[in-house]
Formats: sequence, C-alpha cells, structure tokens
Amino acid sequence: MKPHRRVFVVGGALTPFIGKKHPDFIWKGHPDFGQRENPTLDEHLASAIEGALQSTGVDAAKVDKGYVGNFAGELFVQQGHMGALVPRVVPALEGTPFTRVEGACASGALAVVGCIEAIQAGANVTLAAGAEVQTSVSAREGAGYLARASHFATERDLDEFTFPAMFARRAKLFKEATGTTDEDIAHVVAKAYGNANRNPNAHMRAVTMSVEDAATAGDRNPCFLRNEDYRDHLKMSDCSQVSDGGAAMLLASEDGLAALGLRPEDCVEIVSWAQRTGGLGRVTDYTRLDVTAAAAAEAYRDAGIAAGDVQVAEVHDCFAVTEILMAEALGFTAFGQGRTLAREGRSHIDGDIPINTGGGLLAFGHPVGATGVKQLLEIVRQMKGECGDYQMPTRPKVGLAANMGGDDRTSVVTVLRAG
Ligand code: CAA
Repeated sequence: MKPHRRVFVVGGALTPFIGKKHPDFIWKGHPDFGQRENPTLDEHLASAIEGALQSTGVDAAKVDKGYVGNFAGELFVQQGHMGALVPRVVPALEGTPFTRVEGACASGALAVVGCIEAIQAGANVTLAAGAEVQTSVSAREGAGYLARASHFATERDLDEFTFPAMFARRAKLFKEATGTTDEDIAHVVAKAYGNANRNPNAHMRAVTMSVEDAATAGDRNPCFLRNEDYRDHLKMSDCSQVSDGGAAMLLASEDGLAALGLRPEDCVEIVSWAQRTGGLGRVTDYTRLDVTAAAAAEAYRDAGIAAGDVQVAEVHDCFAVTEILMAEALGFTAFGQGRTLAREGRSHIDGDIPINTGGGLLAFGHPVGATGVKQLLEIVRQMKGECGDYQMPTRPKVGLAANMGGDDRTSVVTVLRAG
C-alpha cells in the first residue's frame, strides 16, 4: 500500500535482547544466579516504550493510539490482554487506546502496520511496540509453544522442535534444487555473529563464530532434530535465538510532526508497506518464500522502486537458510544465487546490499513480538548514523524490512526512505 497520508518514523528504542549465552542473562552458573532475576515482560515493554518517549522527547499525552506485537504471552508468561498492559507499565499512557496484534513472528511488523493504518484513518501520532519473554521454559518446551504458529493439528508432529524442522526441510530441498552447500549457509551465520559482536544490544554479542565453526556439526554445534529426514540439514548455529526483549517506535503524520515541532526532512519516511497471508500448512514450494515475494512486489511497486535500489535490508533470518531464501524472494539475487551474497561479502556491512547489520535474528536475537519493530528501527538507525561500531560506511537512503510469521504464512515488507 502507498500511504495517502505520509507516515514518518519519529524514533524509538530497544532493550538489549538477552537469553542464554548473553553475559547479563541469569542462568545456572552465572555469578548472580539466585541473587537477581532476568527482566520480566512488563519490564521489557516498559523500558522500550519509556525509552522511545524519552529519546524522542514526545509527551505521552500526544500519542493518539498504539499497537503491541506479541505472539505467545499466554503460554510463556501467562499474560494476555497486552494492550491494557501498556498503561499499567507506562502510567502516562493511561486511557490511550492500545491493541495487541498477533501474527506469530510477524507480530511486531503488524503493530507497525496498525500504526500506519491508524495514521491513514486520521491519527497523527502512534506508537508501535513489541515484546516477548521466552526464556521462562526450556528451548524444547518453548518449541511446542512456537509450534502454534504452524497448523498445529497437522504439522506439530514433524519434530518436537517443529519450526527448526520446518526450516531444515526447506534447507534440504533448497540445497538439492540449487547446489547451495552447508558452507554457503555457514557464511550467513558467521556474518550474523560478526555483526552481533559489534552490537551492544545483541543477544550473541559475546559469542564468536567462524565460518568453519558454523559449517561443522559436532558436540559443540549439534544437529539436534529427531526427524531423520531433516536432522542433517540443521545445526544449532543455524537457529535464531530464544530471546527476551522489547522494542518501541513512534510514528507520525505530517500534522503529527508539526505538532511535535519536527520537520519531515529530518525524519525517515515509510513510503510503502505490504502484508500478504498464505494459508497455514499450505506451502506449495519449499524452495521459495512465495508469500514474502508477493508482499515485496507490492511494496516495490507502491514505493516506485526496484530491488536494486535498496541500500540496506533487515530480513527475517529465523534460520540461516531463510536469509538466503529471503534475499531471493526480495529480488536481491536470482533464484539459486542467494548463497553468493554472504560468501562474496555483498551482504556484509560494507557490501553493496548489507543485510541484518546488527546480527539479525540469528545473533541479534529473536524475542518474537519485538522483532518486526526492531527491524524498522535498525533501518532508521543506519539511516541516521546511530549504529556505532556496526554503522555502514555510507548512510543508506533507501531501506527495506521483511518480517515473516510461521513458515512464510504472514509476511510484511516495508520500504523506508531517509529524509
Ligand atoms: N549433542 C546432541 N544433541 C544435543 C547436544 C549435543 N551436544 N546438545 C544439545 N542437544 C539437543 C538436546 O536434545 C537438547 O534438548 P533437551 O535438552 O531437551 O534434550 C536440544 O538439543 C536443545 O539443547 P539446549 O536446550 O541446550 O539448547 P539451547 O537452549 O541452547 O537452544 C536451540 C538451542 C534449540 C537451537 C534454540 O536456540 C532454539 O530453539 N532456536 C530456535 C527458536 C525458534 O524456533 N524460533 C522461531 C523461529 S520460526 C519464526 O521466526 C517464524 C514463526 O512465526 C514461529
């Protein structure tokens, strides 16, 4: 869709994304184990929203409406009704309408879509937030919760780790169809960790990973699926993280910017967005992300750009092969050539199409409901030169975010342009 009322990103904030292997995450063996607790969902949501309001200087009273992305609060932390959680944790927003949206791992982008559409309907300042806490249970139990993003009745039994198995299936079929190798995929993983090592907010900021480490299965990097058809096609390092965290972003119309005393030319603009949905369990070609490709085609058309115009991208790398599939669905390369981007350095921070500059879901982390909001914020931060050690050498002018729910079942593609 192309906005008929222009939409600008005022700014936003993130909590650090944390979980196992993050130095601040309290876990057995951590010196603070038993002394202090990890932040709760309430605390992640509050930190992100308060951070967004404080860093932009926006008075909470100016926010007309907001949306919160969260996938599975009821399962992980026994909390639903997330819209009404917002004014509990940020009392300055008492009375402001907030609604929770859910589209599995695309919940965050759907919160942004809700905010854009509210602006189309007349709101002037909106707030998109997302948060998730997943470390309350083991990775195995959490995998059963995440499996609710599949067609549970027919897909859950693929493996106890349902989503890892779904993408191991894609990896197997994609490798067979295109000649992509495990080493090609390992280049994506090593790039993600390399970027995260430069990003203080990243879950895996302290974990190093070479191409060789990522390409080698073994005790330190096991193939952990039980499904024998797919086990060999997914190693632990190919997986996104089980992370906790929050993200929040303020958006405004031209009238909203004027009321906040801001100029459009100082802000990043959302020039188009597209959302596509495919039926659960109805993937027809496991070697392509067709739903994302359809969303991308619409977003490019409405922005009046081509894939080659994109100068930075945040794509949904829930598993390493997914980044390659995404690059192809978004038109950055032809089918079967996505493997070349990381291997040849083209998707690195100093490449011609940098992808997931902060480490992506693989290494920045993936607190499901927060991810889609974080992706847009990362593009904005690159455009404004705020990425510190992982800042691109030249600030990008055109960026794209692609957030995906389930096995390419809900997809949101957004195009942003620097003022
Ligand atoms: N050898 C063999 N097997 C081993 C092993 C070894 N050395 N070490 C571990 N394992 C196996 C074990 O079976 C273990 O499970 P149990 O302990 O229950 O037996 C399993 O691997 C996991 O080990 P850990 O729990 O120690 O691993 P972890 O906590 O570090 O988690 C991970 C690692 C399982 C890869 C986890 O990070 C993970 O599940 N990541 C993926 C998260 C995910 O799927 N997110 C959603 C993405 S899909 C999406 O984005 C779309 C959507 O809408 C859902």
